[in-house]
Amino acid sequence: MFTLTLEDFQKARARIATHIKRTPLLTSRQLSERTGFDVRLKAELLQRVGSYKIRGPLNKFAQMSEEQKKRGVVCSSAGNHAQGVALAAQIYNIRAVVCMAENATPAKIAATKGYGAEIVLHGTIWDEANEKAKELVRTEGLTYVHPFDDEELIAGQGTLGLEIVEDWPEVEAVIVPIGGGGLISGVAMAVKSYNPKIRVIGVESSDGPAMKASIEAGQLETIDCRTIIDGLRVRRVGETNFSVVQRFVDEIVALPDRKIFDAMIWVMERCKLVVEGAAAAPVAALLDGLIELPAGARVAVVLSGGNLNLDQLRGLKWN
Ligand SMILES: Cc1ncc(COP(=O)(O)O)c(C=O)c1O
Repeated sequence: MFTLTLEDFQKARARIATHIKRTPLLTSRQLSERTGFDVRLKAELLQRVGSYKIRGPLNKFAQMSEEQKKRGVVCSSAGNHAQGVALAAQIYNIRAVVCMAENATPAKIAATKGYGAEIVLHGTIWDEANEKAKELVRTEGLTYVHPFDDEELIAGQGTLGLEIVEDWPEVEAVIVPIGGGGLISGVAMAVKSYNPKIRVIGVESSDGPAMKASIEAGQLETIDCRTIIDGLRVRRVGETNFSVVQRFVDEIVALPDRKIFDAMIWVMERCKLVVEGAAAAPVAALLDGLIELPAGARVAVVLSGGNLNLDQLRGLKWN
């Protein structure tokens, strides 16, 4: 069964360290007072590309053969994964193709192009864009970069967890958002390889809790996903992710989009940090009293990214 050791994460970090920022673990008096815990925020919204999503691709590409690097990589995403893949490929001087649905927002296309990727617009939904990506794997020999179900990618994303325990060895719980499960798979194995007693809690939108539904069913479930929060919107989590979460994650909580959006505004107002919806989910869980821990517990919250559409904020309109 796929399991990574502390040494695996240290090696991954050594591969990628020079290309990323060591993001800070900030204290938060506001959240600590509100919850009665000692809360710190892993400010990954300050990472290059504005989210943790560059870590995994950097780790994956560093291990590709020269032949694979020469051919290039492909992914399908209109969000943070696209930008992470694009910049990581640019850093290693690899060709990157990003497939997006034809209705992808011009700002996201421009941002991804800005990191040097070629954009291929295909279909109207992610599944169709993804079919195009798979076709390019067959016809052009590109290496496919899955957004969450990939072992080297998971190791790279988990370096974020390694940084948390290094900066705060006494941490007792870590709260992480879940979309497809790539981030929490890496973070859970990383922090537990350092100290198995650290409690790992995942947060999903109850408008699309694909991981929670699968864990409760004891098997992978495909759900009817209604959340509109980019990053949390997944109908079916990855097989590797499911297996890791079953073994390494202690608890998953879920709450509706509306409460997650409220938490986004709360974080901006109180903590002065610009977070996107997915990143606000763990804070929402704290504010809503869903996290049950002893008073004074040392809790790290993963603020996973800050790439939000400001038009949404202006009108407080979420779609
Ligand atoms: C900012 C942010 N946080 C969290 C997630 C969820 O990560 P995962 O799909 O690895 O569970 C994503 C996924 O796109 C994201 O962009």
